[in-house]
Amino acid sequence: MDKYYLTTPIYYVNAQPHVGHVYTTVAADVLARWERFLGKEVFFLTGADEHGSKVAAAADQAGLSPQELVDQTVQRYLDLWKLLEIKFDRFIRTTEAEHQKIIQSIFSALQRNGDIYPGVYEGHYCVPCERYLAPAEGIDCADCGRPTEKLSEETYFFRLSRYQERLKEHFVKNPEFIQPERIRDEVTNMLSDPLPDLSLTRRCRWGVPLPEGVAGSGLTIYVWFDALLNYLSGVNYNPLSPAETDQGKLFQRFWPPDVQLVGKDIIRFHHIIWPAILMALNLPLPKKVFGHGWWLSGNEKMSKSKGNVVEPFDFCSRYGSEALRYFLLAEVPFGMDGNFTEDAFRKRYNSDLANDLGNLIHRFNHLIRTNFGGKVPAPQDGGILARKTTGLLPALTQKMENLDFFGFLETLREVVSTGNHYLDEEAPWRKGPNSGPALYNLTETSRILSIYLEPVLPRTAALIRRQLGLMDLPTGKEALTWGLTKPGTIVTKAPPLFPRIK
Ligand code: MSP
Repeated sequence: MDKYYLTTPIYYVNAQPHVGHVYTTVAADVLARWERFLGKEVFFLTGADEHGSKVAAAADQAGLSPQELVDQTVQRYLDLWKLLEIKFDRFIRTTEAEHQKIIQSIFSALQRNGDIYPGVYEGHYCVPCERYLAPAEGIDCADCGRPTEKLSEETYFFRLSRYQERLKEHFVKNPEFIQPERIRDEVTNMLSDPLPDLSLTRRCRWGVPLPEGVAGSGLTIYVWFDALLNYLSGVNYNPLSPAETDQGKLFQRFWPPDVQLVGKDIIRFHHIIWPAILMALNLPLPKKVFGHGWWLSGNEKMSKSKGNVVEPFDFCSRYGSEALRYFLLAEVPFGMDGNFTEDAFRKRYNSDLANDLGNLIHRFNHLIRTNFGGKVPAPQDGGILARKTTGLLPALTQKMENLDFFGFLETLREVVSTGNHYLDEEAPWRKGPNSGPALYNLTETSRILSIYLEPVLPRTAALIRRQLGLMDLPTGKEALTWGLTKPGTIVTKAPPLFPRIK
């Protein structure tokens, strides 16, 4: 069986989750569900980035210890992922003892290879971004615009500079590594000047301690080094434990990642620093690292510090988590920025979910119950609907491979719209008992549609199947054959899938 290893960034737990965090995680969940549907063995890793100055400062502000703060906040993330039906295989926390041990042994391995050496870091550091500034940036952070701290501290450097040429080569030979295409130039430009070595420790009380025997009192491992390595510790990689052990099996099975999703805010970390660390460890690189666009709010990137975040719990309680999953992926192509407004959300909800999809299911369900006593009638020719739905798999697969959720959903909207036109033209309400084959075709279309919609709308897909009495039919690729619904299947009355928002 093919494998599929997929990751999201691990989120800082200094503050509550917002819609931006939901975006990446929902996108990953959709991919994971799609790949499971295709029959692959999937490992979907997400988690929490729990160390660093930013988390320590937030804990001080809240009057809690850092551990207390992260324990509380991580629970909010877990609750949210449950609410949104995120089916991850592992949720990693960087404060886990096992993760910390792995970080230390990777640090030691790099030190043995001569990739880590002691020195003094002189320069500026942005705590909110947990980032060392390049000397040319000056004293304010180019990413968030805030003032930074001037540091002069003893540290250990990672020889990032050693990997500059190999990175360049890798980008040329593996164009699919940097996705989407539109950010390729930006990433490649990051290599136009010599790469500085990267300071790997901080004078910070809240972080992974240096490995035993490494000098440096008061130093902990730089939070980004700790965080990036979650993608390795998440599948139990450990340079000290051989691959054949139980520990090593997960790594052996799943490494390297097939897709890593990140927001475009952190592409330097993921397209430059991360692959360089893997090169230093002699490990294969991820196949694809995709930097998606931002959700803006009031034309600025949605972020806690700007005070413009959309609160997902509240949103889900008002409109349902399915609608939020749908909106995020249907509204804007994945590589682009989008403006999140309640007005846009309501418009899309009403048009795509309430009027088109919800109405289609509701209308023919009603007709089967009134014209045929609630039993799916016998089929004749599948006609245009059979042609429209079967054979979509290659195009949809291609779209998912390109992370084109927008195009994927556009294709499914066309199916819904064909179904609604068909219903208008066939007008079963006029044909009475002669409308049987048309209603069969609509049932079959909705069944197949529910299979395709499942990755994005898992609850809705199950509700569609339940009201049409199709719960016992297959849901894998074999479900795509036209004609699996048995005539006589009992259709039941159900509340609207997406009640119209006034
Ligand atoms: N902890 C680091 C990541 C370490 S990964 C080894 C971090 N965390 S974060 O909490 O700031 O989350 C960043 C990620 O959340 C972004 O890369 C993106 O995936 C998502 N988003 C946060 N705000 C977002 C928007 N406004 N819009 C879209 N995605 C956003 O960076």
